[in-house]
Amino acid sequence: MKTYSVTAKAHPNIAFIKYWGNQDSSLRLPSNGSISMNLANLSTTTTATINPDLRNDQLELNGSTQTGPILRRIQQYLDLIRKMYKRDGFLEIKSKNDFPISAGIASSASAFAALSTAVANLYDLHLEQKELSTIARLGSGSACRSIPSGYCEWKTGSRHEESFAISIAPEHHWHLWNCIAVVESNPKEVSSTKGHNKADSSPLQQARILDAPHRLDICRNAIIKKDFGALSEIIELDSNIMHAVMMTSKPPIMYWQPTSLLIMQEVMKIRQKGVAAAYTLDAGSNVHVISTEKNYKKVDEILQGIPGVVEVLKSPTGSGASLIQSTSTN
Ligand code: PMV
Repeated sequence: MKTYSVTAKAHPNIAFIKYWGNQDSSLRLPSNGSISMNLANLSTTTTATINPDLRNDQLELNGSTQTGPILRRIQQYLDLIRKMYKRDGFLEIKSKNDFPISAGIASSASAFAALSTAVANLYDLHLEQKELSTIARLGSGSACRSIPSGYCEWKTGSRHEESFAISIAPEHHWHLWNCIAVVESNPKEVSSTKGHNKADSSPLQQARILDAPHRLDICRNAIIKKDFGALSEIIELDSNIMHAVMMTSKPPIMYWQPTSLLIMQEVMKIRQKGVAAAYTLDAGSNVHVISTEKNYKKVDEILQGIPGVVEVLKSPTGSGASLIQSTSTN
């Protein structure tokens, strides 16, 4: 039997201006635009193999065969892609993260960016980067920002074809670092997919969406001008606004832990003393501390000393998704 395999790699990203809530949840068309930075030192590598003997899609994640909801999410995603592009053939997917899965770092962005890149090549879809970003989005919204390189912006769009991310600055434009203070290693209580669906129940969500273009402008300009002062102010504001929406949803979602707050306060304190550092939190309790090439080692040292911090993962800005290899066997 002849099989054909494609391997692709992608990095997760940390959002500076966050995506929270959808205009259309089945297509993952977001309520607001977002901006992020890819993380070079963390990655997912995925091999997709087309094998005529398969009667179903199969998934192996970090060496263990999946049977539950994670497998179903991947099968639904692959069904959608086959339907959209009129392809057939079930796939065997093997995916590995090089960052500790227990660290509670969201891996869906790198997972769907790597998967969509592998599958687009395996099914010979001949997609431009923009279109690849739209199909990564269908798996996990933030995955569309892991397709292009460096600092990326995802414009909302009002149709599937219009909602994709582009690079606003390449990875070497500004040597920022993300020091991730891991606060707990348990899986998060409320998945981001469920959280997005609750966003509109917060009385603060409309105000958050209305002001998003303004925050996006400030953030984009800060990146282009490499203005850390402006960047730190806007990313902390945006993270706080998103968490305010989460906390005021029905029912409320509280991702912060006491240690998360301790870290945020410490970051504000050290910034006043001249250390370039700014916090941002995704749908979890880990605190991502953005810093500069000159300051990140100091930030790392300070974070390591905070009680409750389990470990600190560090990464500079990363590239986009890439194809690693294609092989065929007889
Ligand atoms: O792509 P999702 O559905 O995992 O949502 C990501 C949501 C946040 O991480 C909280 C914000 C963002 O823009 O990445």
